[in-house]
Amino acid sequence: MALQINATNPEHPALLLELPWHLPLEEWPDKYLVPLPRGISRHVVRYARAGDEVVAVKELAQRPALREYELLRDLDRLGIPAVDPLAVVTGRTDPEGEPLECVLITRHLGGSMPYRSMFETTMRPATMHRLMDALAVLLVRLHLAGFAWGDCSLSNTLFRRDAGAFAAYLVDAETGDLHPELTRGQREYDLDLARVNISGELLDLEASGALHPSVDPIDFGTEICARYQELWKELTRTSVYPAGKHHYIERRIRRLNELGFDVAEMQIEHASNGDSVTFVPKVVDAGHHQRQLLRLTGLDTEENQARRLLNDLESWMATQEDYAPGDPLGARPEVLAHRWVREVFRPTVRSVPPELRGQMDPAQIYHELLEHRWYLSERAQHDIGLETAVVDYIRRVLPKRREPLRPTEE
Ligand SMILES: Nc1ncnc2c1ncn2[C@@H]1O[C@H](COP(=O)(O)OP(=O)(O)OP(=O)(O)O)[C@@H](O)[C@H]1O
Ligand SMILES: [Mg+2]
Repeated sequence: MALQINATNPEHPALLLELPWHLPLEEWPDKYLVPLPRGISRHVVRYARAGDEVVAVKELAQRPALREYELLRDLDRLGIPAVDPLAVVTGRTDPEGEPLECVLITRHLGGSMPYRSMFETTMRPATMHRLMDALAVLLVRLHLAGFAWGDCSLSNTLFRRDAGAFAAYLVDAETGDLHPELTRGQREYDLDLARVNISGELLDLEASGALHPSVDPIDFGTEICARYQELWKELTRTSVYPAGKHHYIERRIRRLNELGFDVAEMQIEHASNGDSVTFVPKVVDAGHHQRQLLRLTGLDTEENQARRLLNDLESWMATQEDYAPGDPLGARPEVLAHRWVREVFRPTVRSVPPELRGQMDPAQIYHELLEHRWYLSERAQHDIGLETAVVDYIRRVLPKRREPLRPTEE
């Protein structure tokens, strides 16, 4: 059989043809290779240069190679964070004409690290919790898409630290299965495999002295299951909202925040019986919201204020007609954010008379207005709206605020 390269992009085969396909992967000369850290694996995996790109090449039998290629393409279509499949090379032979194993080529995930490299310097337990959360987010997203992983583990995941956010990517799909929907049993089976794998991997790290002394490998395995369950419950609860929906949406965002997860994306779909909302969760690093808000709006705030303001901005964005995350034709987030500053943030802050603002800066005022709206809406059990909240805040909250100042003023 002749050498055949099946690729997702028509430009790739020409670049890939330059690689020494007649040699077993283990014997490839250094000039083709890129020395980046790799995780542990049964198959031979190497990173090679193809044009401007670095690709990961994995040698394996034809059937599993084709299967994994197709699954990775499915995951890509479903918008799941996983490595990008580029090609499958079949029909390889050595110079004597002896057949060589097939290879699967994926794009090297830039900025990613296998977990073993991340643990080379002892990781703080707080960072480890965030990594586990990132893995829980990945597993929930896979399950929501109907993908049973079959081998969720730290070595089959790549972690990326991206602008303060932690993201986990699936790297090994070989054991996976895509279904229209997963049953509870299928999810629990997958989760149980994850727990056993992760505890085992952490025990290995512990044995090699790479684990922080306060970290218990077994507890961490159990913790990831608990985090998964919380997140799953929060994301899959009934999600059709009647009028006055804003408050319900905010309540769910706050609950996700309290669980330690953030909303990466939110979509509101209008239907005749109400609005259904879907969230895409993510895990973020300390200081992330502050940097994000500053970048989007120029507002420089405290972390907690930034989180509330971003939540408000996100909910507002989702109501805008040109909001289409991921779609190059949709408005860019920066553009929408400036519209929000102009049309929502500034007019709201301006409606609070300057003489009542005291030492508060605009971001703090807006933050307090959001909190007041939340408080009144919780009491009323529906969204009372920002305008009502502003009026009540000016009439009832601000005068009390000024009272303790009076004695020194008089
Ligand atoms: N596209 C990629 N980008 C970055 N790293 C990659 C990529 N593909 C593979 N790797 C690295 O190679 C390692 C092994 O890959 P993979 O898990 O697919 O191999 P495997 O032999 O199928 O593993 P297993 O032993 O679990 O069956 C990964 O842990 C990762 O570190
Ligand atoms: Mg693997």
